Amino acid sequence: MKPNNLATKIFLDSGDPIETKKTLEILDFLDGQTTNPSLIAKNPQTAGKKFSKEEIYEFYKKVVKEIALMIQQGSVSVEVYADKNTKAESMIVQGKEMFSWIPNAHIKLPTNTEGLKAAESLVQDGLRVNMTLVFSQEQAAAVHAATKGANKGDVFVSPFVGRLDDRGENGMDLIKNIIEMYKKADSHVEVLAASVRSLDHFMYSLQLGSDIITAPLKVYQEWNEKGIKIPDANYQYLFKNLIPMPYHELDLSKSWQEFNINHGLTDAGIEHFAKDWNNLIR
Ligand code: E4P
Repeated sequence: MKPNNLATKIFLDSGDPIETKKTLEILDFLDGQTTNPSLIAKNPQTAGKKFSKEEIYEFYKKVVKEIALMIQQGSVSVEVYADKNTKAESMIVQGKEMFSWIPNAHIKLPTNTEGLKAAESLVQDGLRVNMTLVFSQEQAAAVHAATKGANKGDVFVSPFVGRLDDRGENGMDLIKNIIEMYKKADSHVEVLAASVRSLDHFMYSLQLGSDIITAPLKVYQEWNEKGIKIPDANYQYLFKNLIPMPYHELDLSKSWQEFNINHGLTDAGIEHFAKDWNNLIR
């Protein structure tokens, strides 16, 4: 049952509608779901199979439609194919097509130059976007600047906690910093804590007041075992040997092109998603 004092929207991170059903059985509510090429590749129905390019898009569409039917009041993030050579024009074409699949889509775009160009254009055309693979405050500032004029709720920014932790940086600091920066600027962009790998990531994101959290089924199973509770004021996020990420004072009135949006983990993430997707194709 949804706790009364829960302000954060709760999303499932999965490419499998069976997990959507299971999460709904456990929590009795769900505000949305995020998918990506790697999660689609993990869907049991793709095991041992190879698809043509058309077939894999059809499969993704079928999956997304099934999920959207179960979470009709929520949002479902659908990610465009992008590798290091993909231009904004291709992301725009894919994004418009994917947006037509379901009534409640957010289009996931990589937070690189081409992805931001695509976001600027799609938002102007009234589409909703979720800017993914965010690893720095500068990238989040660029997302704010590139999508100015959009309505609150139409743009999500997805900082990846777990992948920063993996290389020894405190990913939760990035969530905290972006929330603070957006609050100061009264930003229209909603913070979606992503790459959440543990109940502690989840609980601390709740305590920080993230607009949205996406987490895998196992985190919700654990949350359920602990009674689906909101962290109280005494909750403390404990972490070991992680390097703090300091807050940077950034001017969000600048144009997005003025921010340094380069990040090695964004490039690596794009290549990884592309590889998982291409492995599904014969
Ligand atoms: C969600 O939008 C992200 O794609 C996902 O949380 C990434 O998580 P991972 O770093 O565990 O792959």
